Amino acid sequence: MIEARSLTKRYGDLLAVDSVSFEIQRGEVVGFLGPNGAGKTTTMRMLTGFLPPSDGTAVIGDADIFEQPLEARRAVGYLPETPPLYPEMDVEHYLRFVASLHDVPRRQRKEAVDRALERCGLEDVRRRVIGALSKGYKQRVGIAQAIVHTPPVLVLDEPTVGLDPIQIREIRGLIAELASPRDGEPAHTVILSTHILPEVEAICKRVILIHRGRKVIDQPLTELTAGGVRLEEVFARETARDAADAPDAPEEAQA
Ligand SMILES: Nc1ncnc2c1ncn2[C@@H]1O[C@H](COP(=O)(O)OP(=O)(O)OP(=O)(O)O)[C@@H](O)[C@H]1O
Ligand SMILES: [Mg+2]
Repeated sequence: MIEARSLTKRYGDLLAVDSVSFEIQRGEVVGFLGPNGAGKTTTMRMLTGFLPPSDGTAVIGDADIFEQPLEARRAVGYLPETPPLYPEMDVEHYLRFVASLHDVPRRQRKEAVDRALERCGLEDVRRRVIGALSKGYKQRVGIAQAIVHTPPVLVLDEPTVGLDPIQIREIRGLIAELASPRDGEPAHTVILSTHILPEVEAICKRVILIHRGRKVIDQPLTELTAGGVRLEEVFARETARDAADAPDAPEEAQA
């Protein structure tokens, strides 16, 4: 459902994402981890068609992001680090606007917006101006704008950052719900980045960890934490390695 094929992004001399490959099957919820600057957001922006890779490609659903960019973008809902909200719009009009951007046919827009409002628990605030909502509700609007065109794939970049514990629990519940089939709608396939490790343990079945642009772990959570190992220990161990330990680091002799 999501396939990264040697995705690479260079910024001048910096290899922000270095030949990252993975496959995520339909209905999977995968936690995408890595320290600050590891390349998570850059990878997600490439998966969602917002940033062209320097090398490699990605396939979303059946569509290659280069060969069928429109189909690929249609198949994916994206919650960026900073959701593209218009503070002066009310929730409902904003979602209608997003639905039109995603080419949801005019006649189906009301139904699409109603469904997104309902799934994200926004019905009571549908006429409220976005700028006046609490952070948690703004985040729900961010998720609603990601699902309004009913994409099978969701890419969520730090969906619970900055929220209070109650709101975190609610947003996690919402993500878990989106990952389950309901009302004839198939389960979403989800990749989410986060720095909150208990969040991964709460909602993800698999972990992909990147460090300095490279994938260092891609494993089911149960395997990673077998024998009572804590995810925090795994994270610390894998990210403590610096570039000198990387398999293809230049030989010391060359230095
Ligand atoms: N537009 C850009 N120009 C130059 N360098 C960039 C650009 N965007 C990102 N980078 C660099 O690419 C690397 C990866 O950044 P990225 O934002 O993907 O990390 P991240 O894993 O999302 O980090 P965080 O956890 O802080 O959100 C960083 O070194 C960053 O400084
Ligand atoms: Mg980021």
